[in-house]
Amino acid sequence: MIRMATIGTSTITRSFLDAAASVPTVDVTTAYSRDPERAAAFAADTGLASSVSDLDALLASPEVDGVYIASPNGAHGDQVRQAIDAGKHVLVEKPAVPTSAEFVELADAASSAGVILLEAMRNCYDPGMADLAGLLPALGTLRRASLAYCQRSARYDKVLAGERVNIFDPAMAGGALLDLGVYTVAAMVTLFGEPERVVAASIPIPGGADGAGAVLATFDGGLVVDLSYSKITASGRVNEIQGELGTLTFEHVAQPTSARVALLDGTVSDHTFDGPSNNMVHEVRRFADLVDTSGDTASDHARTLATLRVVERIQSAI
Ligand SMILES: NC(=O)c1ccc[n+]([C@@H]2O[C@H](COP(=O)([O-])OP(=O)(O)OC[C@H]3O[C@@H](n4cnc5c(N)ncnc54)[C@H](OP(=O)(O)O)[C@@H]3O)[C@@H](O)[C@H]2O)c1
Repeated sequence: MIRMATIGTSTITRSFLDAAASVPTVDVTTAYSRDPERAAAFAADTGLASSVSDLDALLASPEVDGVYIASPNGAHGDQVRQAIDAGKHVLVEKPAVPTSAEFVELADAASSAGVILLEAMRNCYDPGMADLAGLLPALGTLRRASLAYCQRSARYDKVLAGERVNIFDPAMAGGALLDLGVYTVAAMVTLFGEPERVVAASIPIPGGADGAGAVLATFDGGLVVDLSYSKITASGRVNEIQGELGTLTFEHVAQPTSARVALLDGTVSDHTFDGPSNNMVHEVRRFADLVDTSGDTASDHARTLATLRVVERIQSAI
């Protein structure tokens, strides 16, 4: 059994707990918060056995094998490093850290310490993504793809009211690219690899973060992918992948549940990818399998690194 603690007390930690409840080898026992009352209230509300507000004490506990980190992006690095140094396995929310250099350092540290480090990029562990990839050969030579994640955040109203909020705070590695855009980048890297060239534009909002952005990525062989992401506007548009023999459309880049393939010969097929409504289950399962088997994280880390490298190229192209 992998005995785990949570770091962060926002909604996403509740979703993690819901997902972890269906993974039999994971037992989440402890809630950490910087504030003792919040830690206790969170533990009581979610049914966790204990709570703690001293991170050093949590990481020193022999009763905790691993941590799930869902703090603001800018806090991940220090907490991941501390946990690894204490010999704990780490499942950390996306993006694992803001830069590829920092991820390389942490991956090396995890390897030296003999612990698992995994980024919780939920769309990449969703079997729907692999199902999508399996449909692509029918499209012939791929030429265009268009991936989007645009969802207006209620926290944007706070920004407009002059408040500083983590998810829109550049000092906390907030902003649309690192929050929602990173799902489109990870999907692009998973489906097509790393692009040769990247051009990008973004919309700055008060406080200095990007509120929305767009990317054009070109691949050798003649594939152009556009990415669109926003936390200040909303879109219900589908994602699309075009090949010389047909077009695939699918909903929700963070949770692909279905796809339609329309071939130019008139054939249309609909595909449903069954799965739990909370697709964090898949990343928790992957984490548990890796811990249980002392498994190889090379492919997971390669994808995280490729995603972070593309994010950095987008940032420098803006
Ligand atoms: N997979 C998904 O679908 C999904 C969805 C949403 C978010 N996320 C990811 O989850 C992470 C958290 O995002 P969020 O929007 O929930 O963040 P948030 O609300 O700003 O903060 C999350 C938690 O971190 C703690 N915290 C707040 N400020 C902190 C600081 N300055 N230093 C250290 N800890 C701090 C707070 O817990 P205490 O005050 O109790 O310590 C808070 O509950 C991000 O990495 C985000 O990308 C993933």
